Amino acid sequence: MGWCDQMGLSMAVAEWWVERWERQQRRYAIDREERFTVIGDVVEYVTLGQRRPLVVDLGCGPGSLAARLAERLPRAEVVGVDMDPLLLELARTHHASAARYVDAEIGADGWTDALALGRPLDAAVSTTALHYLPEPVLRRTYVQLAALLRPGGALVNGDHLPQSGVVAGALAAHVGRRRAERLRDGDHEDWESWWAAVEAEPELAEPLAERRRRLSVPAGEEGGGADNGLSVSDHAALLRAAGFGHVVPVWQFGDSCVLVAIR
Ligand SMILES: C[S@@+](CC[C@H](N)C(=O)[O-])C[C@H]1O[C@@H](n2cnc3c(N)ncnc32)[C@H](O)[C@@H]1O
Repeated sequence: MGWCDQMGLSMAVAEWWVERWERQQRRYAIDREERFTVIGDVVEYVTLGQRRPLVVDLGCGPGSLAARLAERLPRAEVVGVDMDPLLLELARTHHASAARYVDAEIGADGWTDALALGRPLDAAVSTTALHYLPEPVLRRTYVQLAALLRPGGALVNGDHLPQSGVVAGALAAHVGRRRAERLRDGDHEDWESWWAAVEAEPELAEPLAERRRRLSVPAGEEGGGADNGLSVSDHAALLRAAGFGHVVPVWQFGDSCVLVAIR
């Protein structure tokens, strides 16, 4: 029997934690809601006329983007992929109907097979996730995504994508900080305190233990994870090398950016 058979996460508790997650994530994605909306605009554009667009959400977490896309594009079939059992449990409970959720590590052997797509992708989307992938893994992942997408399909990545160069990077970061201050995004709790609070939630005890086992996270050290530090132009170069014909940033506030690559 797996951990998820041993426990029951109630709808109400899942909803509470997902809403708290939404507020916490605003600290890390400047103008997060607008960024989601822009990603929806791009997916709407590239799937125009498609009867049942197929979209994968990379690093879906508790289903934040998947849920927004499902609401915006109700005909879309959304597949969310993540390797965090706790966040996936929240997604499967609170945003059950938005997507089919796949437990897999992006970049690991066989991860694209685990998606069980069965047909070409119209779009691959992601928010605040791909910066975790080390450069060689990201490079390979972009090549794999280019192979999964139909011609004309798009990879739409909203993430921290700093400008390259010290001067441009510092200027963009300043503009981003000012925007975040105006939106009061810094008032929300941070990643560490969200995870510390999860620790006290009995309904999440099993997936938290599974997360720690699987991701080798010591108790009480749910750190924010790595950042590959790649700039928006580094991403663009990797995407072109992977076979994407057109790469364009369509939205940016500071280093919060939506980068689109058309296959
Ligand atoms: C900061 S969260 C963002 C979640 C969600 N996209 C959002 O915007 O709320 C980053 C997510 O990426 C996932 N992630 C990071 N690296 C991953 C990998 N190699 N494979 C699958 N998921 C990954 C983490 O587990 C986490 O759920």
